[in-house]
Amino acid sequence: MRIELSNAFERLGNVLIYGTQKVYALDAGPEGPNHPNDKYFVVRKVANEQSWNVEQEMVIVVPIKNEKLKLLEGVITGIPHNCLIIVVSNSDRDDVDRFNMEKNVVENICHFSKRDFLIVHQKDPEIAELFESMGYADILGEDGLIRDGKSEGMLIGILLTQLLQKKYIGFIDSDNYFPGSIYEYVRIYSSIFSLSKSDYTMGRILWHSKPKAINSNILFSKWGRVSRLTNYYLNRLISLYTGFETDIIKTANAGEHCISMNLAMNMDFGAGFTVEPYNYINLFEKFGGVDKLTNQSDNGNKVVHIHQVESRNPHLHESKGNEHVNDMIDNSLGSIFHSLICPLELKKELIKELKKAKIILQNEMPVKRAVYKALGLFDLNKAKQKFDPDKFGHMLTTV
Ligand code: GDD
Repeated sequence: MRIELSNAFERLGNVLIYGTQKVYALDAGPEGPNHPNDKYFVVRKVANEQSWNVEQEMVIVVPIKNEKLKLLEGVITGIPHNCLIIVVSNSDRDDVDRFNMEKNVVENICHFSKRDFLIVHQKDPEIAELFESMGYADILGEDGLIRDGKSEGMLIGILLTQLLQKKYIGFIDSDNYFPGSIYEYVRIYSSIFSLSKSDYTMGRILWHSKPKAINSNILFSKWGRVSRLTNYYLNRLISLYTGFETDIIKTANAGEHCISMNLAMNMDFGAGFTVEPYNYINLFEKFGGVDKLTNQSDNGNKVVHIHQVESRNPHLHESKGNEHVNDMIDNSLGSIFHSLICPLELKKELIKELKKAKIILQNEMPVKRAVYKALGLFDLNKAKQKFDPDKFGHMLTTV
């Protein structure tokens, strides 16, 4: 891949947010003598071998809940070969066991493509036991099983990635219609890690466009209602601390993102669909140096690098309706509102916005979702003793 270096960044304490970077070539060819100017060139080459090396240490987590099997099949097909795939499903098992069907699809594709994979169900008691063994009780519901939610599924993925001692994790939604876009997203992840100089790195994909059919024409729209609002208010939060207006954040709701495991183990995660915007909030809380209450002293000299890369492929995924979108707006803005670092002025603006959109009523507050503490604070050895990848239908024998 050839990828642009960003020449601009915004800084909040020890969080560096780079301006959007573009992809200049999906394939940059093999390693070879560099062009004499390469060192000073703003577009960097990540040779295929470099991508493969990073991908060897990367897990791709695919959260899924009752999606079309054809889409899951395409997603798995798009993930570059060296990555370990972990599918975390919260699909129905009652009348028709959808999880079983998903397992068949994943096993089949991975068998013929000779891939490594794990597939787990969010409600598997053995997964709950892993969390319980290390004292991580917040994620367990009254039934003793992992709570519902995309974030909760992602946390399972992070724990398994840590137990498998991989260095990087990337997330890919399972409702994507274009396998080629998946390939590009993962190549962007490995390029980011390959070029990054920090072991506290996060990468976030800015979709090139989201095609929609309007009056028999295709419109390649860029921003949805959720991301427009969440980007605006996260940027507003930065402005209120720095005194300078900014529009640096373009990936507030990026479902497709990647994190170095050193960083992921030190981050708190917001429940459900607060997960992506809360990434930013939590990094500001922990590394931004803006609030002594939330800032953790052992993060003092760690600098977090956030890279936002614009893909070349359009993103076509399932459309889940207006109610779902409103819920995501409430979750996203609520995650900003309820943070200890949210200034009063911004809280008032958020309430006004949510009332204007009729998402909350006159006397209501934005939804407050749980926050799950960083996994690194818990006794991982206990989970390690219990963890047996063989139980999760894996195949760690790449031929
Ligand atoms: N394991 C698991 N558990 N997966 C889930 C759950 C759950 O409880 N709920 C949803 N998922 C999976 C879905 O199957 C899908 O693959 C992915 O999580 C995203 O869920 P969607 O319901 O399709 O969300 P969306 O497409 O509206 O929103 C996506 O894009 C947003 C950016 O526009 C999500 O990735 C959001 O998190 C993101 O902010």
